[in-house]
Amino acid sequence: MPFLPGIIAIIQKKPWTIDYGLWTNLIFAPMEKEVVLSGIRPTGFLHLGNYFGAMRNYVRMQDDFNCYFFVANWHSLTTHPDTKELQNSVHRVIAENIACGLDPEKVALYIQSDVPEIAELYLYLNMLAYKGELEKTVTFKEKVRLNPENVNAGLLTYPVLQAADILIHRAVKVPVGKDQEQHLEMARNFAERFNYRYGEVLPLPYAFNYDSELVRIMSLDGTGKMSKSENQLATLYLADDDESIRKKIMKAKTDQGPAETNAVMPDYIRNLFTLMKLVSAADTAKKFEDDFNASSTGNCIIRYGDMKKQLAEDMAKFIQPIREKAADIQNNKPLLGKIIQQGADKARASASETLKLVRQAIGMNYV
Ligand code: TYM
Repeated sequence: MPFLPGIIAIIQKKPWTIDYGLWTNLIFAPMEKEVVLSGIRPTGFLHLGNYFGAMRNYVRMQDDFNCYFFVANWHSLTTHPDTKELQNSVHRVIAENIACGLDPEKVALYIQSDVPEIAELYLYLNMLAYKGELEKTVTFKEKVRLNPENVNAGLLTYPVLQAADILIHRAVKVPVGKDQEQHLEMARNFAERFNYRYGEVLPLPYAFNYDSELVRIMSLDGTGKMSKSENQLATLYLADDDESIRKKIMKAKTDQGPAETNAVMPDYIRNLFTLMKLVSAADTAKKFEDDFNASSTGNCIIRYGDMKKQLAEDMAKFIQPIREKAADIQNNKPLLGKIIQQGADKARASASETLKLVRQAIGMNYV
């Protein structure tokens, strides 16, 4: 109820005695926009999962919310990347975000390591995070399985750093794909513990998608989620050329087709429909869906080859302008430098306000 304090002020002051200014303030005072934050690790080329799980929402949210979007380069260090490559990737992620429609004038688009306030909040939150819960995190267990020789403390406390990223701007909406749900739940836990111990400072953040369900785009070979580093031939990158897009989609996993009317769709076929609904005309997707549902034993109407050909053409048309615009921006280093500096300034202004409140709440202010 954002107007309540104003209304109370008016009632207390007796309406006939108040000056005109107070009325205008009450009527025209802009409602505070909710704070939105999200980030992407620069661990490789961005793909359709990143786009449809996250970036598409960023672009839709930028007019209605107070938005902070960043490149999570500290998080990338947990897996020990080649740091020369990392530098290129950071620039590419910034360029690809803008190519997808983010306007750096409307949002704060910044690099995590340019905001040292995040590291201080990470330190405070680490005191409220427990080894047992960190070890149970699904992403941690997966990283340990894949890389048993590199189980470093940064990897273990990855969700704490992610919570600091979010809470440093007191964000309440976090547009992410389904794979980040557990990290968001942990961020809420850390915020609640902080508030309980030191006083109410940090609002609780929630994962956000415009449709009710969070998005999960699968790999084209049907084995798990599309990801930056695993099976590159089954991943559609925003930097792929038309030929690679066609080749990858034509190789996508299908089968002999449904053997009954209204058959249950296997995950890998549903994924092709998901992609088609995202990039093709609505009636195109509907036609293939109708064909799928009308197929029956000995009469398979849907032709996956035709569907993939259509999807490949529509996907190539969708990716081409993003690829070209991103390459232009990435080659324009002075422009990139200006955007990165501007983003850092905006992000630090907000981060230092939160940190002031955090320090006061803990009692870390001595002068
Ligand atoms: P990252 O870099 O793995 O992914 C960036 C965003 O893309 C989404 N995403 C997907 N969505 C649907 N289907 C997929 N196959 C798919 N693959 C990736 C992710 O859900 C994410 O939204 N830990 C984060 C980075 C991060 C962060 C944060 C995010 C660090 N701090 C604070 C939000 C808020 C990560 O590794 O995302």
